Amino acid sequence: MFVLGIETSCDETSASIVADGRKVLSNVTVSSVRQHRKYGGVIPEIAFRMQLETIAQVTEAAIEEAGIRKPQIGLVCVTQTPGLLGSLLVGVSFAQALGQSLEVPVLGVNHILSHIYAGYLQDRALRLPFAGLIVSGGHTSLYAVKDFDRIELLGSTQDDACGESFDKVAKIIGLGYPGGPEVEKAARQGDRRAYRFSCSNTARPFDFSYSGIKTAVLYHVRKATRNGARKLSRKEVCDIAASFQENALEVLVAKSVAACRATRLRSLVVGGGVAANNRLREMAQERCQEEGIKVYFPSKPLCMDNAAMVAGFGYQLFKKGATAGILKAVS
Ligand code: KG4
Ligand code: ZN
Repeated sequence: MFVLGIETSCDETSASIVADGRKVLSNVTVSSVRQHRKYGGVIPEIAFRMQLETIAQVTEAAIEEAGIRKPQIGLVCVTQTPGLLGSLLVGVSFAQALGQSLEVPVLGVNHILSHIYAGYLQDRALRLPFAGLIVSGGHTSLYAVKDFDRIELLGSTQDDACGESFDKVAKIIGLGYPGGPEVEKAARQGDRRAYRFSCSNTARPFDFSYSGIKTAVLYHVRKATRNGARKLSRKEVCDIAASFQENALEVLVAKSVAACRATRLRSLVVGGGVAANNRLREMAQERCQEEGIKVYFPSKPLCMDNAAMVAGFGYQLFKKGATAGILKAVS
């Protein structure tokens, strides 16, 4: 079955054709990130205006690239929640209109859970059940994926998301937006042991907290610059980035390994924007190998917001029948 996926939850407009939930025939994504850069964060009005302008073209391009014709599409899957309201509305309205005209069902899927699917989409060796760590700009959560309609939440962030803390720390130390890739780049030239910044402990073992570590960096910078009276040197910026990144990522790896142990799961899938971080990939591979856990990272385009994961995950849910609250038949 050819499934069309549509994703417009934040600043990306993405459309993809996936065959039978596993074969990505196309995955076309455009981003409005450049327009948000000067504001240091996503401006919802700018995001959804661009999505409104590009969604039809992006979808046409995805269908053309896949080498299929529109009537061959058997199902439309669209990100329904969570995300920016205006952006979600653009995707959902477009998907519903298209589904209605093609007379095929339209499935609304959960954005975070579809990130888990990105790893499954890519690696045919991966089998259910597995643990899923989703680390993005809005979410930091651990799941036990028993089946695609039986995903149990093990823990999530109690305050800031991990990606959000990268974005905030980047701003504090004068790096650009989005902060994750900028912090990673600076960290490569820094000393990870230069400073000690730590994530706060959480009452439950698989929850996360990233607000404390960001505040620790803020206080350190205020003190070091005498409240902005002097600028941080490049070395200081790189050392802060490396020290922050090390602890922020160490916590993700330690909790994921502990969750795998507690649930006796032997495979771990990491997804979401932060999964693009090379240091995280390195640390997770190393720790998981020691523990006998197989770790799966999607390719970088599949870590970021994309419609292929939406099409693939939606297909699995569709195969399982009408899951109440998720399946939205148009007619
Ligand atoms: O999944 P995503 O594209 O969008 C959301 O659903 O949030 O994730 C975006 C987040 C941003 O906070 C960004 O700074 C972070 O992922 N990110 C990274 C890296 N690349 C993107 N964080 C750390 N290292 C990276 N290389
Ligand atoms: Zn996302």
